[in-house]
Amino acid sequence: MRALVEVEGLGRVFDISRPWLSRALSGEPRRLLVAAENVSFAIGRQETFGLVGESGSGKSTVAKMAVGLIPPSAGQVIIDGVSMTDSARSSTRDKLRRKIQMVFQDPYASLNPRWRAGDIVAEPLRAFGLVSGNAELRGRVGDLLELVGLDADDDHKYPHEFSGGQRQRIAIARALAPQPEFIVCDEPTSALDVSVQAQILNLMRDLQDRFGLTYLLISHNLAVVRHMATRIGVMYLGRLVEVAPAKALFRHPLHPYTRMLLDAVPDISMSGRKKKQVVGEIPNPINPPKGCAFHPRCPFAFDRCRVERPRLLPFGDASVACHALEEGRL
Ligand SMILES: Nc1ncnc2c1ncn2[C@@H]1O[C@H](COP(=O)(O)OP(=O)(O)OP(=O)(O)O)[C@@H](O)[C@H]1O
Ligand code: SF4
Ligand SMILES: [Mg+2]
Repeated sequence: MRALVEVEGLGRVFDISRPWLSRALSGEPRRLLVAAENVSFAIGRQETFGLVGESGSGKSTVAKMAVGLIPPSAGQVIIDGVSMTDSARSSTRDKLRRKIQMVFQDPYASLNPRWRAGDIVAEPLRAFGLVSGNAELRGRVGDLLELVGLDADDDHKYPHEFSGGQRQRIAIARALAPQPEFIVCDEPTSALDVSVQAQILNLMRDLQDRFGLTYLLISHNLAVVRHMATRIGVMYLGRLVEVAPAKALFRHPLHPYTRMLLDAVPDISMSGRKKKQVVGEIPNPINPPKGCAFHPRCPFAFDRCRVERPRLLPFGDASVACHALEEGRL
């Protein structure tokens, strides 16, 4: 069966030049930042695909392109066989938009503070014309609030009257309102207390089972993706360096960068390896290293790594971009 979500060669370049006048006066060239390049993966129905990587690796940029919040500079996102970029007909685009929802990291920032919880959850129902009349609307909103573990009577409260975890529940209820198939969750628990994180993740899993949802889950926290994801993509400076089934990735990480990330959290890799610090800094994305962008930090780098960019190649169930692995040096 065709995957619900197909991300094909997705790229995004940001123009971060100064205004043209100051550039013209100083003779400064235009500056471009490649936030994502040639990112490809597919997500099967009811699967959770986890995307991990350090800050600035391009995870949110991919997330925003996956839901159509920003257009790609290259490549495309296909949902249920329909390309988001090609969906010129507004009826097709509306149908797609309903199928895809997003949950953000900071529920306080993503919820309008002047709206009551009931209005926040009702908004997509109204926008997509999914209810007829106020009684039905109120009923649906109450059902949705209860579905995420809140009280139907909470509908009259404002976001500041809820705890952080409860606010994220409201954001999830809003995302569920138009009965989507695909939900992109960008660091959904990173702003929450540790004790609350597991509750929200469990809720997301329950909802996934109940409604057959497909998730793209973004987190810098490997414990979160381990708990949730069926497959995982590891990003480094805008590129995927490894894509593998979650279990295999934690048991036997292949790419040196994945190994470094897992080495920093031994209790979740459970490999018995000693905890090691993640070494080195992420290079400047405006002027990334030539060849393999990871080479300045990689303990296995050799001459080829400094000049030739590795391609993502299949290794068993995984895909990995690494010359050392390709040449059997690892
Ligand atoms: N609108 C924008 N304009 C210019 N540069 C941007 C924009 N959005 C993102 N970037 C840059 O693109 C790169 C990737 O950013 P992105 O937010 O996708 O990373 P991330 O992996 O989500 O990081 P984090 O873990 O910190 O959320 C960064 O270098 C960032 O500064
Ligand atoms: S290609 Fe070279 S530098 Fe890059 S991860 Fe592999 S060994 Fe390290
Ligand atoms: Mg981000």
